[in-house]
Amino acid sequence: MLSQKTIDIVKSTAPILETHGVDITTYFYKTMFEAHPELLNIFNHANQSQGRQQTALANTVYAAAQYIDQLEVLLPTVKQIAQKHRSLTVKPEHYPIVGEYLLKAIKGVLGDAATDEIIGAWGEAYGVIAQVFIDIEKEMYVEAAEKSGGWEDFKEFIVEKKVTESSLITSFYLKAKDGVSVPWYLPGQYITVRLSIPGQKHLLNRQYSLSQAPGSDSFRISVKREADHNPQGKVSNYLHDRLNVGDTIEASAPAGDFYLEKGEQPVALISGGVGITPMMAMLGSIAENEPNRKTVFVHAARNKDAHAFGEEAAALVEKLNDGKIYIAYEAKKDESEVCDITGYVSRDFLQQVIESNSVCYICGPISFMRAVVSHLTVLGFSKNNIKYEFFGPALALEA
Ligand SMILES: Cc1cc2nc3c(=O)[nH]c(=O)nc-3n(C[C@H](O)[C@H](O)[C@H](O)COP(=O)(O)OP(=O)(O)OC[C@H]3O[C@@H](n4cnc5c(N)ncnc54)[C@H](O)[C@@H]3O)c2cc1C
Ligand code: HEM
Repeated sequence: MLSQKTIDIVKSTAPILETHGVDITTYFYKTMFEAHPELLNIFNHANQSQGRQQTALANTVYAAAQYIDQLEVLLPTVKQIAQKHRSLTVKPEHYPIVGEYLLKAIKGVLGDAATDEIIGAWGEAYGVIAQVFIDIEKEMYVEAAEKSGGWEDFKEFIVEKKVTESSLITSFYLKAKDGVSVPWYLPGQYITVRLSIPGQKHLLNRQYSLSQAPGSDSFRISVKREADHNPQGKVSNYLHDRLNVGDTIEASAPAGDFYLEKGEQPVALISGGVGITPMMAMLGSIAENEPNRKTVFVHAARNKDAHAFGEEAAALVEKLNDGKIYIAYEAKKDESEVCDITGYVSRDFLQQVIESNSVCYICGPISFMRAVVSHLTVLGFSKNNIKYEFFGPALALEA
């Protein structure tokens, strides 16, 4: 239990820390990785170098500080972060390290303004926040390990099939090396894959959504080659160019709180580009378990060449008694490319094809998700009926 004095200090200094938030977390990561380079085997270096992870952690620590006397308000956010922590094998022994360097960073950035009293109060508050994470993560590790076919940390998988799905996306079918069938998962969840790439000093971890409904004995992930920017994406290019049938890769058990909820409510699955992957698992699950559920599947791709799972999605929608599929191409290469919308998915279009009481699942590039979420909000969809997954640090969209 924190004293009222500690609570008052933390609450009154949280806004000051927030103004220096990114400076503090940037300082924090730099000094922490200097002292504990082994943690670079867990963190995503590309997210670090673009400042995305710093912002996500800073936002959460200051939000938590503001609610330090009613942490239950933050539980949904904590659970979402804890899912990612569990999939990356963040453990209780890591929390004191993060705490130590976070406090050193507050002192380092604020200097004398961070008195011993303030640092002491933040130390206590961090301990309370960390314990909430540790307790929730402990339950998640137990749940992952106790599931039929489950395991706690990482486990080895063999690539049993590699399939080109479009000019940019390739699927990998992963079968456990020990021969045990993969556990049941919720359609929409992801796994973290971990690999050692020649020439890279540290292990690389990346999340990939499972792109087929649960029930098979192996996982399928579908990876977009990130080749548009310099430097090119490390893991996606390695997987496309180097990882072949018979090769080994490590994966942690399925995680994530973006998943299809069963029910009577009509459902809209709206994706852009590689954001189609969790939607394929959801669509497959509806086709198998809820074929009478009213379903609209909207997918936006750059053009036909970049359009993955065209036939597979159409075949799944065929199995539904009340299913519709709409494809948008941003720019058709020529008139032989057939689609339902040329250009962006507009608000008018969404209004025409999606019933207003639908639950909408959205995944795609950030600009696509911002546009779709904003259209649905203007059309009167409630926050509860708009669910999305961002393929990067999750809090970025809200920020
Ligand atoms: C929950 C979740 C589910 C996901 N599901 C999928 C999925 O189903 N399919 C899929 O393909 N992806 C998915 N992703 C994304 C995936 O995890 C990887 O982020 C993606 O494959 C890119 O990884 P990479 O190693 O190839 O690129 P990285 O090396 O991580 O680089 C990412 C991007 O940043 C740029 N970059 C790298 N370093 C710098 C720098 N120093 N400065 C500026 N820019 C830089 C790169 O050019 C690239 O565009 C998911 C992510 C999450 C969080
Ligand atoms: C109370 C303390 C902590 C808070 C508030 C916190 C907060 C966060 C947040 C907000 C994210 C982004 C979530 C997302 O992408 O969906 C995140 C991700 C992550 N956290 Fe934590 N975290 C804490 C402790 C730790 C510890 C102790 C470790 C391990 C050393 C750790 C390792 C990671 C890693 C590796 C990621 C993913 C980063 C990436 O992909 O770049 N966190 N955390």
